[in-house]
Amino acid sequence: MARKNQTLGEFIIENQAEFKYSSGELSRLINSIRLAAKVVNHQVNKAGLVDIVGAAGETNIQGEDQQKLDVIANETFISTLKNREIVCGIGSEENDDFITIEGHKEDNQNKYVVLMDPLDGSSNIDVNVSVGTIFSIYRRVTPPGTPVTMEDFLQPGRNQVAAGYIIYGTSTMLVYTTGHGVNGFTLNPAIGTFYLSHPNMQFPKDGTIYSVNEGNYTHFPLGVKKYIKYCQEESENRPYTSRYIGSLVSDIHRNMIKGGIYLYPKSSLNANGKLRLLYECNPMAFITEQAGGKASDGYTSILDLKPTALHQRVPFICGSQHMVEKAEAFMAEFG
Ligand code: AHG
Ligand code: MN
Ligand code: MN
Repeated sequence: MARKNQTLGEFIIENQAEFKYSSGELSRLINSIRLAAKVVNHQVNKAGLVDIVGAAGETNIQGEDQQKLDVIANETFISTLKNREIVCGIGSEENDDFITIEGHKEDNQNKYVVLMDPLDGSSNIDVNVSVGTIFSIYRRVTPPGTPVTMEDFLQPGRNQVAAGYIIYGTSTMLVYTTGHGVNGFTLNPAIGTFYLSHPNMQFPKDGTIYSVNEGNYTHFPLGVKKYIKYCQEESENRPYTSRYIGSLVSDIHRNMIKGGIYLYPKSSLNANGKLRLLYECNPMAFITEQAGGKASDGYTSILDLKPTALHQRVPFICGSQHMVEKAEAFMAEFG
């Protein structure tokens, strides 16, 4: 049972039995992500001091090379998961190939692989706007004790056992699901503890916010253009409000709380859109569905797509169920 003010640590232990395999391995994995999130949060909060400590590519006053925050976030999550020997493989936006974790033991018996976008919305760092981390967890399909293969990573989103995001915003939150609803935890930075602040998060069935990079309008398919015009038309609850942060985590988080739709369609500039199926769309789609919302590529549920490549891109429409259904209707009619 979710209780407000419960810490994330308590929540993970108390809800472990909900998970069908319930060996404690997944709980340890989420605990590791919680730890890495706090480290990255600390780094993100220092980002504004870049003029003092030195920009990426420079050497700071202690003679250390400064690194870009997405590299720092990537290394933090990888080393936290690696050191605990808690997964057998990691796929990341920042790494061309997946990482195999052998472990110190003769054979790594860990069953889980993690896919992640360690720093989402990274262009927002320089302007003090919210960024995030996205993660997606699967059970491997190849036998434990053998090296992971591409097959372990290219699973449809429906197979996810857990997914979540961290939003480094006005406050820092960790939001995740293990397939039993969505819960959000807010970090108390004074003591470094996440507390359950948003139990059982729900996407409102309808909303009045649409989020899309309208700078690409002329390059969008006709169905998307018509849907955007529909959002802008005068009617009982329209025109909708346009809100676009340019950080997927932040845009979806806001829409989940307030009700809204997010679109990153394909365009004549990007044949498959921009967002990555495995570590952006699938985890956000799993969370969205668990919160009663909907996510599709315009025609098919994101979670039903069969991945073909680690860094594959897909068009993404995600949000309040009725709004996504309306957008899909425009796609079906106009393409
Ligand atoms: P990342 O920083 O991981 O590369 O992701 C950025 C993504 C996503 O967060 C955001 O919604 C989208 O790119 C914004 O793209 P545009 O600037 O093309 O709108
Ligand atoms: Mn991203
Ligand atoms: Mn990223």
